[in-house]
Amino acid sequence: MNTPTFESAKAAGIETVAVIGLGYIGLPTAAILATNGLKVIGVDVSSATVEAVNRGEVPFVEPDLGTSVAGAVAQGFLRAQKETPAADAFIVAVPTPFQADKSADLSYIEDAARAIAPQLRGGELIILESTSPPQTTAHMAQVVLEARPDLSLDGSEGRPAVLFAHCPERVLPGRVMIELVTNDRIVGGLNAGAAAAATALYKVFCKGEILETDATTAELSKLVENAYRDVNIAFANELSVVSKNLGVDVWELIELANHHPRVNILQPGPGVGGHCIAVDPWFIVAADPENARLIRTAREVNDSKPQRVVEQILEPLDGNGAPTIAALGLAFKPNIDDMRESPAVDIVHKLATQRPDAKILVVTPHSKVLPKKLEGFTNITSATAEEAIAAADVVALLVDHDKFREIDTATLAGKHVVDTRGFWHIRDNE
Ligand SMILES: NC(=O)c1ccc[n+]([C@@H]2O[C@H](COP(=O)([O-])OP(=O)(O)OC[C@H]3O[C@@H](n4cnc5c(N)ncnc54)[C@H](O)[C@@H]3O)[C@@H](O)[C@H]2O)c1
Repeated sequence: MNTPTFESAKAAGIETVAVIGLGYIGLPTAAILATNGLKVIGVDVSSATVEAVNRGEVPFVEPDLGTSVAGAVAQGFLRAQKETPAADAFIVAVPTPFQADKSADLSYIEDAARAIAPQLRGGELIILESTSPPQTTAHMAQVVLEARPDLSLDGSEGRPAVLFAHCPERVLPGRVMIELVTNDRIVGGLNAGAAAAATALYKVFCKGEILETDATTAELSKLVENAYRDVNIAFANELSVVSKNLGVDVWELIELANHHPRVNILQPGPGVGGHCIAVDPWFIVAADPENARLIRTAREVNDSKPQRVVEQILEPLDGNGAPTIAALGLAFKPNIDDMRESPAVDIVHKLATQRPDAKILVVTPHSKVLPKKLEGFTNITSATAEEAIAAADVVALLVDHDKFREIDTATLAGKHVVDTRGFWHIRDNE
């Protein structure tokens, strides 16, 4: 375990840090460096974000971040601006969404690199924290050095060196301020000097182990962690489809199989959502399409699960007139409002499109607004769980929010129930 110390960064010549991108990852990182005594300048293209941070406010919800940002701004250790300044170290935490062909959009990283380049004097450390395909750190270095041919990676030919490293982030939203400190960190340098400098910077706040490697291994490690989860969930989801076809209860099957001392099958669900597990494995597939066969198949299995759920919901309704469907939950996981890449949203969208005559009552206990994807559908309405269940022919449990524990299961009697999470342990044929 490390003992965090500001001195480690100082010894590596780092006293000012520019954090580029003040979102869910960049702002907590900026705040934690600033509260540990470094001078931090946060940079964002969004004026609203810059203004909010300079008022000591956080433009999104993350426990404990508000206090940290307000304190750091009030004490003069953190300020935000739109222009990239000169600094001893730069941390890039901009978005890396996937494009229509499932490859990563690197344009945000390239823009950040082009803005950093004119500020360099030589000797700086540039860390890429955005989740990135293999070799993106090298690509970022190339963009910087193309703009600054007077600098180099290794100080050769009298050109001062700039250090580049990739340090992926694996914090859990909702626990970011804790996990930034306690999680182990992987630090991958384009060379050993870059890895050592990045380690010195993370030692300022990280109590976990800091593990040094090369940049490509670090890039791949983040993607592999999420692909591992995706493949294991796909196995459970595939079992749920096979079990249904064979008339077997998948929850009982998995419970029994997990009595084996070396078997631990995950629980199936309506699909996989969120901006990490449903996205990152595609970056591996794009990097080696011929060989990443299992990873691709897992993505396809998980992406096909929402349509299976739609079929389960609609199957008993054929020819029965315009049905009413209660859809319980839209978030991508329980007890949050985040609907990004959510399979539940996909299921409701598919239901509304495939059965335009159906009335769909959606229940979202953690959010008052419907996601953009469901806007404009006249057959989708928000309701309470009680209203939706009372009116419904089919009740589809899509998210295992704790709030749904309050539902009186007696109200489900006589309804066709599709329980995608094994929440009520009601067998399909009951
Ligand atoms: N949110 C998470 O839980 C999480 C976890 C691990 C890794 N990541 C990765 O971290 C990276 C950032 O994710 P996030 O959730 O913080 O994104 P985000 O959308 O919350 O924040 C990104 C910020 O960058 C700003 N930005 C975009 N282009 C910019 C530019 N050229 N210069 C300055 N600012 C710019 C945006 O305005 C935004 O405020 C992504 O690669 C993501 O995959 C996120």
